[in-house]
Amino acid sequence: MFAVYAESFSTDDPLAGLVVGERPDPEVPDGWTTVDVKAAALNHHDLWSLRGIGLREEALPMILGCDAAGLDEDGNEVVVHAVVSSPGWTGDETLDPKRSLLSERYQGTFADRVAVPRPNVVPKPASLSFEEAACLPTAWLTAYRMLFTQGGLKAGDTVLVQGAGGGVATALITLARVGGLTVLATSRDEGKRTRALELGAHDVFESGERLPVKVDAVMETVGRATWSHSIRALRPGGTIVISGTTSGPKVDDAGLTRIFFLQLRIIGSTMGTRDELASLTNLLDATGARPLVDRTLPMDQARDGFAAMASGDLFGKIVFTR
Ligand SMILES: NC(=O)c1ccc[n+]([C@@H]2O[C@H](COP(=O)([O-])OP(=O)(O)OC[C@H]3O[C@@H](n4cnc5c(N)ncnc54)[C@H](OP(=O)(O)O)[C@@H]3O)[C@@H](O)[C@H]2O)c1
Repeated sequence: MFAVYAESFSTDDPLAGLVVGERPDPEVPDGWTTVDVKAAALNHHDLWSLRGIGLREEALPMILGCDAAGLDEDGNEVVVHAVVSSPGWTGDETLDPKRSLLSERYQGTFADRVAVPRPNVVPKPASLSFEEAACLPTAWLTAYRMLFTQGGLKAGDTVLVQGAGGGVATALITLARVGGLTVLATSRDEGKRTRALELGAHDVFESGERLPVKVDAVMETVGRATWSHSIRALRPGGTIVISGTTSGPKVDDAGLTRIFFLQLRIIGSTMGTRDELASLTNLLDATGARPLVDRTLPMDQARDGFAAMASGDLFGKIVFTR
């Protein structure tokens, strides 16, 4: 079948190991099912994989992609949940130490078909297109859990979203508005700041700029480049929820003094549960909120999408269609 896969790793030139070609049909273990992929969305995770982060050399070649929407074996429209828990695990699958994401241990979604455990398909509301639904399983689910589960945010709170252009960040801005929050956002790029306002941010700032107010919570996915600013932006008792480190994980000054003196809370967040994915699809269905799609490309032009993400030239999600 047609597939977009990683053949080798390169830290400096991740696209060198990317192949658009053919791979065997997926194996379907007992208790698993297949989904015919109609649309699949690109995540930074796919670039990390090509850099050899989160993916083992023995697992190559590996079909990339965590996210997909398509048709199940009975022709139902479904969204694929990307977190695969270990056999016998019950409860919150993001806490399973042996969980994996599609494209880490099991073949991913950038292909004609993907195999997943039966519980990993969620009904797609008819109001969402395949392209919109394909954006949800990673970036949007992560944003949903960051705000409402890990962040515990509620209507009336004020949140800062760092790095407004990213897939997770654009999801955070939209979902925070849906949840009745006051939304501040930063970006290095003036054009992206303008687009963040159009998307629903109440106010936007340059990366690192002093804010006029202290916020209840900061949503961090950028890491090193914005960490100090995130610490300084919080009110006493405020919360940073961190789910990514795009600019690197090592910080010069972690702000430890401020963390204890202002009693700040630092909370990690990773993906989300199947139930949270179902709640997210229902939320979008009910409110009319939709993922922002930066561009849609036929899957055989996936390389162009990877290149855009590698250079940071995007605002919202890049979606591949079959
Ligand atoms: N834990 C999880 O479950 C989970 C799930 C999804 C994603 N993630 C992680 O979250 C991060 C974002 O993912 P994504 O798919 O949204 O990636 P992305 O679309 O590539 O977003 C990256 C954004 O980060 C900002 N940025 C990058 N370098 C920066 C720098 N040096 N200084 C300031 N801002 C910088 C940029 O914002 P501006 O250009 O607007 O400044 C850019 O738009 C990734 O690290 C990813 O691995 C984690």
